[in-house]
Amino acid sequence: MDLLKERICRDGIVKDDHVLRVDSFLNHQVDVTLLSEIGKELRRRFDGEGINKILTIEASGIGIACIVAQSFDDCPVVFAKKNKTANIDDSFYSTRIESFTHGRVYDVMLSKEYLNPEDRVLIVDDFLANGCALMGLTEIIEEAGATFVGAGIVIEKGFQPGGDNLRAKGYRVESLAIIDKMDPVNGITFRE
Ligand code: G4P
Repeated sequence: MDLLKERICRDGIVKDDHVLRVDSFLNHQVDVTLLSEIGKELRRRFDGEGINKILTIEASGIGIACIVAQSFDDCPVVFAKKNKTANIDDSFYSTRIESFTHGRVYDVMLSKEYLNPEDRVLIVDDFLANGCALMGLTEIIEEAGATFVGAGIVIEKGFQPGGDNLRAKGYRVESLAIIDKMDPVNGITFRE
């Protein structure tokens, strides 16, 4: 998606060879017009798949998913909640997610009320790095008996293994910009 790649090059800040900051348009201040274009592009890629629910994880995924949903006939967005205490009863699906970026493990939970066997689910998130969040969400979808249609990711860090591992498992992962390498001096190289 050229519009997104141009924006990443213009306004993204490569902190080091692993961390890209996109606070000015995605993670802190949000460019809603860009998100709307992201929604249209994901709809184009997943058209005809009968998606009737969008799943994401708090926090950054929520705003993105809500705008993307407008391109999917305003289907409901449900987000997994991060829970510090594993205070979960059997009315919730739950799974553990390990964040390498933040160096911690956390539980996420989702009410059973909001994910059902008839749901055809698109997962939406801002970054895909090691893929732990995405794997955790697919486990919840499976437990619910729902169908995981695919994932729509804004920025995949292709030099980390998440995207390739998920594709190798047969999952459909559509990342709108895949960064193959980056560093503060030479900038960003996107996958073609
Ligand atoms: P993984 O789920 O793919 O394994 O990713 P990882 O644990 O490594 O990343 C954890 C968090 O860090 C995620 O946010 C992810 O969006 C974010 N992240 C990973 N790499 C980058 C990066 O290069 N730049 C930025 N800006 N964020 C990155 P989170 O923990 O879910 O937090 P939240 O911001 O959504 O609340």
